[in-house]
Amino acid sequence: MTEQSGQGPALDNLLTESRTFPPSDEFAAAANARPELYREADADREGFWAKQAERLHWDTKWDQVLDWSDAPFAKWFVGGKLNVAYNCVDRHVESGHGDQVAIHWEGEPGDTRTITYSDLRAEVCRTANALLELGMNTGDRVAIYMPMVPEAIFAMLACARLGLTHSVVFGGFSAEALRSRIDDAQARLVITTDGQYRRGNPAALKPAVDEAVAQTPSIEHVLVVKRTSTDVEWTDGRDIWWHDLVDKQSDQHTPEAFDAEHPLYILYTSGTTGRPKGILHTSGGYLTQASYTHFNVFDLKPDTDVYWCTADIGWVTGHSYIVYGPLSNRVTQVVYEGTPNTPHEGRHWEIVQKYKVSIYYTAPTLIRTFMKWGADIPEKFDLSSLRVLGSVGEPINPEAWIWYRENIGASRTPIVDTWWQTETGAIMISPLPGVTSAKPGSAQRALPGVSAKVVDDQGNEVPHGGGGYLVLDKPWPSMLRGIWGDNDRYRETYWSRFAAQGYYFAGDGAKYDNDGDIWLLGRVDDVMNVSGHRISTTEVESALVSHPTVAEAAVVGATDPTTGQGIVAFVILRGGAVDGGAEAVKALRDHVAKEIGPIAKPRQVMVVPELPKTRSGKIMRRLLRDVAENRSIGDVTTLADSSVMELISDGLKKGT
Ligand code: WTA
Repeated sequence: MTEQSGQGPALDNLLTESRTFPPSDEFAAAANARPELYREADADREGFWAKQAERLHWDTKWDQVLDWSDAPFAKWFVGGKLNVAYNCVDRHVESGHGDQVAIHWEGEPGDTRTITYSDLRAEVCRTANALLELGMNTGDRVAIYMPMVPEAIFAMLACARLGLTHSVVFGGFSAEALRSRIDDAQARLVITTDGQYRRGNPAALKPAVDEAVAQTPSIEHVLVVKRTSTDVEWTDGRDIWWHDLVDKQSDQHTPEAFDAEHPLYILYTSGTTGRPKGILHTSGGYLTQASYTHFNVFDLKPDTDVYWCTADIGWVTGHSYIVYGPLSNRVTQVVYEGTPNTPHEGRHWEIVQKYKVSIYYTAPTLIRTFMKWGADIPEKFDLSSLRVLGSVGEPINPEAWIWYRENIGASRTPIVDTWWQTETGAIMISPLPGVTSAKPGSAQRALPGVSAKVVDDQGNEVPHGGGGYLVLDKPWPSMLRGIWGDNDRYRETYWSRFAAQGYYFAGDGAKYDNDGDIWLLGRVDDVMNVSGHRISTTEVESALVSHPTVAEAAVVGATDPTTGQGIVAFVILRGGAVDGGAEAVKALRDHVAKEIGPIAKPRQVMVVPELPKTRSGKIMRRLLRDVAENRSIGDVTTLADSSVMELISDGLKKGT
């Protein structure tokens, strides 16, 4: 363990913000959420969740809402059986909505696909039949390594339909990252594409799969969607084109009901050690909370809304708020393949205008990017269809919140700042549109049915106005059911910090304001948040020291005006060289991108002669952050050698 790296983005103006934005009477009158939900949930939490579970179709009803007798391993809706894909697709066709558009898909080059619920059912059935032909059995793991093409969604739903456990790996991750995830889950199949469009150009994707799969004996087949017609290498017998296998399948398939606790997916996320954790989610409780939150937090009206979540399916937001939550609610949604500035910086607003998007959910880092690009860009488009805006992934600073509301929401739309994690599976803390008077920069209150507290080091709740650690003090339906293959790590990571109280430790710092509303302050562990993506400092450090020129490395997340945090690496080169030179630094940045993925590429690499360490050998990241953020260096008295910081600063001054 290293010392705690303190809080994330500098939220200077956050704690002095005092504006509030009450809902309009008109919005409140028509809102899905009602203030009584809080009272109902408080009066009978399990009864409340049982009622929410009735949003879904169950083949067999549960006997018990929650079994927490083996805490921290929860079972929700014990004895219940359902099919997740049936709930997201077939039942909407059966209720007469087969012609409703499920997905308006927009490719980066401008090609489009319109997929109705009937189409979606046919595609998911064909894909499921193809997976059966490949000999996949209930419980097997399937890796999905794809860009934002419709087939990625068909693949996830086909897995859910067959009781296969998917493990989606973000298409921006490296071959090595894919390999380790396939290996950890012992996946039998990987589904991918030949390539993907990125910033206007096709980029190959399959070579990374070939490289990963060369070292993963568990993989039997690679199923490849043709997206860019990029030339790819082919291993006969192992590799299969999607269009050869899937297109010929029957569009009929009868879904089977699975236990509420049947594993639905594994999603890897960064922890405080170098090895990513496979977060395990199951079926009934997960879908219940994804569905309930999507309906209430975004005020979804399935007959009239057009919803757009800009996340990638490689992250949990894509799982819960593109696939499972929205489709369970019979959404009509936009799915966009590409980057926000291809071919121009107004692409998102052009899409909003084109499809009359009414609910838009994105990340603060993108909002700050839009701010940088200028308000004149969204101004050129008709955004009057928008009625709810959402934010997720990192704390949103009040300035960005206000800009979002004024420039995108015409000073009219509610904004929901939604706090949650890969581990929580669904939104936990958020305003409810039509109910909550919003405060820019605050996620405010645990949703009805959810319970969160801010506590001190001892686990005692802090008074209003006080700050500390965010905990979840009661189990919730979409909670992770563990870390794949590692129960001890699950207990240790989340449940040991406040074991006496039985609280889930979220790893975030938080504060109550004087009204008792919650303000999130960023991570309190060695996890960085870069553009809303979780990356651990140790993961980047291990990538750096795996390079032959590096002797030692320390990584910190430094405040960045656009990305929240930027990765700053301090490295000691082998042989003690103090001048890395531009070439060497570039090689190290590229090496990290190759080992983990471009998202983990350090913003800066500083070559230093020493690293600041305590007497017990822990690296003092706090001091490195002072350097990275150009602050005067804090207290150095606990350093083993107090002259180290001078050496570092002097060296860097010379270097620049
Ligand atoms: C951060 C993303 C402040 C937080 C859904 C959390 C937030 C981590 C917010 C989880 C928010 C997410 N305000 N911080 N509204 N939403 N975070 O697993 O530090 O990728 O612990 O899940 O993102 O990131 P993850």
